[in-house]
Amino acid sequence: MATQSTKVLFFVLFSFAICRTHAALNAHYYDQTCPQAEFIVSQTIRNASIYDPKVPARILRMFFHDCFIRGCDASVLLDSTPENEAEKDGPPNISVRAFYVIDDAKAKLEKACPHTVSCADVLAMAARDVVAMTGGPSWNVLKGRKDGRVSKANDTANLPAPFLNATGLIQAFASRGLSVKDLVTLSGGHTLGFSHCSSFVARVHNFSTLHATDPSMNTEFASLLKNKCPSTNNNGDAGQFLDSTASQFDNDYFKQIIAGKGVFGSDQAMYNDPRTRPIIEAFAKDQNMFFREFAASMIKLGNVGVNEVGEVRLNCRKPN
Ligand code: HEM
Repeated sequence: MATQSTKVLFFVLFSFAICRTHAALNAHYYDQTCPQAEFIVSQTIRNASIYDPKVPARILRMFFHDCFIRGCDASVLLDSTPENEAEKDGPPNISVRAFYVIDDAKAKLEKACPHTVSCADVLAMAARDVVAMTGGPSWNVLKGRKDGRVSKANDTANLPAPFLNATGLIQAFASRGLSVKDLVTLSGGHTLGFSHCSSFVARVHNFSTLHATDPSMNTEFASLLKNKCPSTNNNGDAGQFLDSTASQFDNDYFKQIIAGKGVFGSDQAMYNDPRTRPIIEAFAKDQNMFFREFAASMIKLGNVGVNEVGEVRLNCRKPN
């Protein structure tokens, strides 16, 4: 049996290990070295989003995909090379766009304060800015991440798929240190943006031997999706907005799920599971609660697998 002193030593070492994980991340990381960093990123995001209203959703998804694979290390931003197929060319990331916006912010930062602000931090700040500027909450982004040098297309198989059930989703988030509440909260990111037919078409055509369409889907909504996405001759650009106010960050996504109008099987599956359903119901009733939780969960997402040692890339598309 462990003695009292071994227990204390274990506790001290354990606490130290936990603190070490994010010791270098802090909200004031660039206050001395690049005080304009936050302003440069937010101005770039704002201008790009005015020019193309699809940008906010794309940047938010890009941040999620970055943090889920190899941690928030900007691995999603690296380009493929003749020797290596990078994450951005893995199947789920083909539809992730707007990398040019991060390049633009980074180029301005390199002029203002060379070799200082990591690409991973640019993406974390940008993700906060797109939420705030579409009407959602804001939060202090903790900074000090370093950029990774590795990016592999095969790793993207570990991103959650839109047909996962609640258990699969919960496991995917738990393996990154994220709770059931974080899962539901962050899925609220589907208040913004759009999906191509390929991500949900199987729900509305020949769903199973018993049901032509997914029985958890509202029948009118199923007809709408069938019209937009025929089983053959699909237009590659066709698809559906993820909620009825897809350029506004709000709690409509949760209301839509309750109405059986979640676009992905995975969204709808969370409503059919007792572990996640009460959280969806609470957020559908109380937008302020959703906003508070979203800010907290985005900070947690931004802490996943952070590198404190490594490089600050000069160009987000390639290692130094
Ligand atoms: C919980 C598991 C998740 C699954 C299975 C999932 C799956 C998907 C899929 C299949 C698409 C559509 C891709 C396309 O066809 O173009 C999508 C879009 C999107 N996802 Fe998720 N996602 C998940 C979680 C998240 C999280 C946590 C966030 C952000 C915090 C997020 C943000 C977005 C956004 C903003 C879009 C729209 C992108 C656009 O309009 O370009 N997703 N997601």
